[in-house]
Amino acid sequence: MTILTYIVMVAEAILCARATSASPLQVVTDSGVLYGFVDPSAPAVRQFLGVPFALPPTGTHRWLPPAALTTSTFSINATSFSPSCPQIPLSVQALADVSSPKGGNQTEFFPIENFSEDCLTLNVWAPTHAEKLPVFVWFFGGGFQQGGTNSLYYNPTTWIQRTQAHIVVSVNFRSNIFGFPNAAGLSEQNLGLLDQRASLEWVRANIAAGTALFPSQITMTNDTAQANFAAVGGQLGCAVGAGQVDCLRDVAWQDIEALLVSNASIPKFLPIPDDRVVFTDYGARYTAGAFARIPAIVGTNEHELNALEPGEDALGNQTFLCTAAKTAQLRDAHGVATFRYRYDGNFTDISPPGFSGAYHASELPLLFGTAGKFHGPSTRYENVVGALLQDLWLDFARDPQGGLKRAGWGSFEAGKAVLLGDVDVPMKVMELKELDGVCAS
Ligand SMILES: *[C@@H]1O[C@H](CO)[C@@H](O)[C@H](O)[C@H]1NC(C)=O
Ligand SMILES: *[C@@H]1O[C@H](CO)[C@@H](O)[C@H](O)[C@H]1NC(C)=O
Ligand SMILES: *[C@@H]1O[C@H](CO)[C@@H](O)[C@H](O)[C@H]1NC(C)=O
Ligand SMILES: *[C@@H]1O[C@H](CO)[C@@H](O)[C@H](O)[C@H]1NC(C)=O
Ligand SMILES: *[C@@H]1O[C@H](CO)[C@@H](O)[C@H](O)[C@H]1NC(C)=O
Ligand SMILES: *[C@@H]1O[C@H](CO)[C@@H](O)[C@H](O)[C@H]1NC(C)=O
Ligand SMILES: *[C@@H]1O[C@H](CO)[C@@H](O)[C@H](O)[C@H]1NC(C)=O
Repeated sequence: MTILTYIVMVAEAILCARATSASPLQVVTDSGVLYGFVDPSAPAVRQFLGVPFALPPTGTHRWLPPAALTTSTFSINATSFSPSCPQIPLSVQALADVSSPKGGNQTEFFPIENFSEDCLTLNVWAPTHAEKLPVFVWFFGGGFQQGGTNSLYYNPTTWIQRTQAHIVVSVNFRSNIFGFPNAAGLSEQNLGLLDQRASLEWVRANIAAGTALFPSQITMTNDTAQANFAAVGGQLGCAVGAGQVDCLRDVAWQDIEALLVSNASIPKFLPIPDDRVVFTDYGARYTAGAFARIPAIVGTNEHELNALEPGEDALGNQTFLCTAAKTAQLRDAHGVATFRYRYDGNFTDISPPGFSGAYHASELPLLFGTAGKFHGPSTRYENVVGALLQDLWLDFARDPQGGLKRAGWGSFEAGKAVLLGDVDVPMKVMELKELDGVCAS
């Protein structure tokens, strides 16, 4: 099962405060002077791709937290995506060979080529006119094993061309053994999450100050013994002990990923609770009020586990719906505004096998405006649902407390939720107990 992280930051921003007078496609940032471009297919959208936000985590920087870039005045040709961070491309895993939306490899969600350790970059898409606008920061999913920003479905140019009212930033971060090594002797283990944090700091410094954060779904292991990293080192000729991490810094990343492919018994490398970056008991922290008290949208899809093969909705409900319900309850207990939804969209171009319906992440192509680009055109109704999602997310970004209420989305505190993308009505207000009833203990 692949769990997608879904974090969005919303902020008031002005990208062009420091645009040079020469052209709106030249923007001065801490990373250097970005030279962006406009694609004829989205003529009102500026694109700045492959912008570094930290030093490359290579050589002696491998397995260390992201290091700040020295402020630079160099020119950066921000016209193409950087490589994605090292990973086992989903296409070479057995998982991809079963029925899926593409009848095989899910290339629309996951990058399948161009990987490198020099990958800590972000991409910025903004309207050509400069004004104060909300910013969405997108962290791709992939269960902390795979993923990258160079993904067909995560390109927001169509969305921004349509609204002309927001900015999107997407971020590369390290995953698997490179992002979550859990190696003896390192002072930080959750490097991939520290990458995400460093990117948010870049956005704050160069675009704006953040105001809202969605909660993320995090899978955790509790391998306090750090045995997995040590065993991988042993299998690559680096003996367990004080010099093991340094020894492994000299092994090519390709050889490390190749070992993970060849030996299926090696457990996944995942975030590790350290009670600083990743916590042991999120429920307790919520109860104590130790969380970001800002409005959030919390939702799930009708058939989360159907992406690759028919899954069990009972298990999908327990895994996704009921954790969403619990999160909303814990937030509501502190009076923090929460908006619940279930997405039910079932469109042939996104779910070609039919059975998959509203599988995990299937709402994203409608939100990003990429539905209809890869498996035949979208239907008229599908476009209506996509535009609705885009407008609702923007309503929330503009006014996290009141925007969705004005749009007719009943709030959690009022005992309401919404069904999005049902067969006939794009947005239906429903009773919370109808949505979350199966979760009542
Ligand atoms: C920027 O990169 C593009 C290709 O990505 C290339 O066509 C162009 O010549 C480059 N510009 C400069 C100034 O290097
Ligand atoms: C998935 O991609 C791999 C590598 O490109 C290819 O060998 C395999 O046949 C593909 N699987 C399907 C079901 O398309
Ligand atoms: C991978 O990199 C090559 C060479 O730079 C480029 O031609 C190709 O388009 C890239 N692939 C993707 C999916 O970006
Ligand atoms: C595969 O990895 C496991 C776990 O690290 C290890 O116990 C086993 O010896 C490895 N297999 C081979 C053939 O190296
Ligand atoms: C992780 O393991 C340690 C040691 O066995 C234990 O004390 C701790 O409670 C565990 N944490 C979780 C979240 O299971
Ligand atoms: C999953 O939850 C929904 C409510 O949101 C419910 O309608 C459905 O019957 C549940 N499915 C199963 C198999 O429990
Ligand atoms: C999705 O719609 C197709 C018809 O287009 C139907 O065959 C399939 O059963 C539907 N899937 C779900 C999960 O409702």
